[in-house]
Amino acid sequence: MDKIVIEGGHPLKGVVKVSGAKNAALPAIAACLLTGGPHTLRGIPLLRDIRTIKSIMEKLGTVFKGSGDVLEVNSDNLTAHEAPYELVKTMRASILLLGPLLARLGQAKISLPGGCAIGARPINLHLKALVSMGADIHLEHGYINAEAKKLKGADVFFDIPTVTGTENIMMAAVTAQGTTTLRNAANEPEIKDLAQMLCAMGADIEGAGTDTIVIHGVDNLAPCEHTIIPDRIEAGTFMIAAALTRGDVDIQGCRPDHLMALMEKLQQTGAEVTKMDESIHVKGPESIESVDIKTMPFPGFATDLQAQFMALMTVAKGWSMFRETVFENRFIHVSELRRLGADIEINGNQALVKGREKLLSAPVMATDLRASASLILAGLVAEGGATEVHRIYHLDRGYEDIENKFRALGAKIRREKGPSV
Ligand code: UD1
Repeated sequence: MDKIVIEGGHPLKGVVKVSGAKNAALPAIAACLLTGGPHTLRGIPLLRDIRTIKSIMEKLGTVFKGSGDVLEVNSDNLTAHEAPYELVKTMRASILLLGPLLARLGQAKISLPGGCAIGARPINLHLKALVSMGADIHLEHGYINAEAKKLKGADVFFDIPTVTGTENIMMAAVTAQGTTTLRNAANEPEIKDLAQMLCAMGADIEGAGTDTIVIHGVDNLAPCEHTIIPDRIEAGTFMIAAALTRGDVDIQGCRPDHLMALMEKLQQTGAEVTKMDESIHVKGPESIESVDIKTMPFPGFATDLQAQFMALMTVAKGWSMFRETVFENRFIHVSELRRLGADIEINGNQALVKGREKLLSAPVMATDLRASASLILAGLVAEGGATEVHRIYHLDRGYEDIENKFRALGAKIRREKGPSV
């Protein structure tokens, strides 16, 4: 297994370009199942999760072409409707195939995603909504078996705003008979991006980006061209890294309107944050002030940036309180941060961080995608030798070329190859 080795203590300086958003690319690729192609998607990041969804869709009959960040997707001839356990177990977002497969083929068999490191992460709300649209769903041998001759529009209320749930049902509803209304829908930017793509295919969707989305079913869809929004979590990770290392970094090709909560919090730490149309400049403070964080659905502070911001607070002046309200078990990075000397106490969904003057290098283990990023950030400032971050395959699921991007900013970071997993 590869590991990343970091010699801390070098402020990040320069320009970094953000890749396309993983969490927007995954539903966009899944949406290409809704009708034949070729669809052209731009801004697709080169990531393990993207390879996983492509592998599953290739088994269904989808053909992929393209190079760099451009992907041509053709689902003219779908020959299967099953997403197998071996692939789904590595990526929960495979559940995004359920809605489009059911809409296109009238049947889908998807391995039930299990729990994951950050919590139980059920999919009951996806299934309940599909049942209300007339799908017949039963769970058997670890698989979701879904059938519906023709999905029907329905009034769907989500008990909790769910991102992939909203995307799944939006995709299922675009060719359903009649109108579907999603209430208490998630309003993350990735949902609006998917809605734009679906509308470019001929769908009739209003309200994406708010908590009520109305989808009028249409008879036909057509191939489309679409550019994926920039990855706000990758951008946010570099913004936090700039502040943490007392650096000076221009994060280019991002959407400041997707990062308002983080910009606000970074300013409170004393960092200088300047936004332009498509870039954000962050200059780290001499001394980092502590701030409290409560994760919330968009536009609140993203749960996917909580671990990285915690790395920043481990070396802030004073105490900061983190409240995680989206996932029940998203503090697994804490025990690894403690190995670097961080002073953090957990009480239920709250973590109290007492800032220290410095962190000290140590070998640490990545436990999930964003936890990996948090450990890399901590390694960038840890003193007294190299910090080794193990189990780095989590990082490759969601960050494109991350060590090269950090190296170009002046970090002393390298990947050491190990046997593949
Ligand atoms: C998506 C993102 C992930 C991010 C998360 C929250 C993708 C591929 N992943 O995950 O990076 O951390 O949003 O912003 O876009 N829930 C239920 N029942 C359901 C569905 C969800 O109880 O059927 C709960 C979850 O357990 C969680 C909350 O709802 O507590 C929000 O989860 P959700 O928005 O569904 O997260 P994902 O879509 O899996």
